[in-house]
Amino acid sequence: MNRKIIAGNWKMNTSLEEARQLSKTIKENVPTTTNTEIILFPPFIYLPAVANELKGSRIKLGAQNIFPDNQGAFTGEISPKMIKDFCEFTIVGHSERRSLFNESNHFINQKIIASLENNLKVILCVGETFEQKNNGLTTQTLTNQIEESLMEIHDFKNITIAYEPVWAIGTGVSATPDDCRAGIEIVRRALKNISDFTSADSMQILYGGSMNSKNTTSLLTQNGVNGGLIGGASLKAQDFIDIIKQAEQIK
Ligand code: PGA
Repeated sequence: MNRKIIAGNWKMNTSLEEARQLSKTIKENVPTTTNTEIILFPPFIYLPAVANELKGSRIKLGAQNIFPDNQGAFTGEISPKMIKDFCEFTIVGHSERRSLFNESNHFINQKIIASLENNLKVILCVGETFEQKNNGLTTQTLTNQIEESLMEIHDFKNITIAYEPVWAIGTGVSATPDDCRAGIEIVRRALKNISDFTSADSMQILYGGSMNSKNTTSLLTQNGVNGGLIGGASLKAQDFIDIIKQAEQIK
């Protein structure tokens, strides 16, 4: 349970050459200690190339999104059945997908079910907006997201939650360590409401939102924080490696 997860979400960034170079540099500089689980989430189209670069390393791969069906007339979409040959994980429910593509908790729930059926591990993102936080709606928002996204799912062992306050994503202003711990406590309580205590206690919960090499240690040493989902800073090899090195030191 002490092993921290450090996940890099590249979003819609990098060229093919940059994706190869970034994964190669990370692979070559990953610490030899193994207190962290490292997962990279490149754009779909670079998954095979990055998988090739990472051969022989302990770094794992995931997709940034998934469609909740295995095949069919869904122009432009990618299914869990397609990506499971290239990676082990998928992110679902990222706030950019919720806000830019109107993804509902119900749709996210369908994605999780389809991913688990295809043996993909899931990182489910939840988080409140600035407005929700200011209106005292953080607990209600996070609880709804957890309850509705995990509806009818009974086995949580392949699901990790990422608590990503929307106001902290890509803004350069991360949550304070106190806010981070408080958000994660709300998520953990919501998980306990829908499952048995042992499963909820053993689920891993990450923090995400403007995490970088300067705030990593203060965020990851908070009680109940099991790792980080990192956007911007995961595109800079040196920053990402620094983050991993700090996480490796946390007992
Ligand atoms: P950020 O993104 O680190 O750039 O804030 C985090 C995320 O969107 O997962």
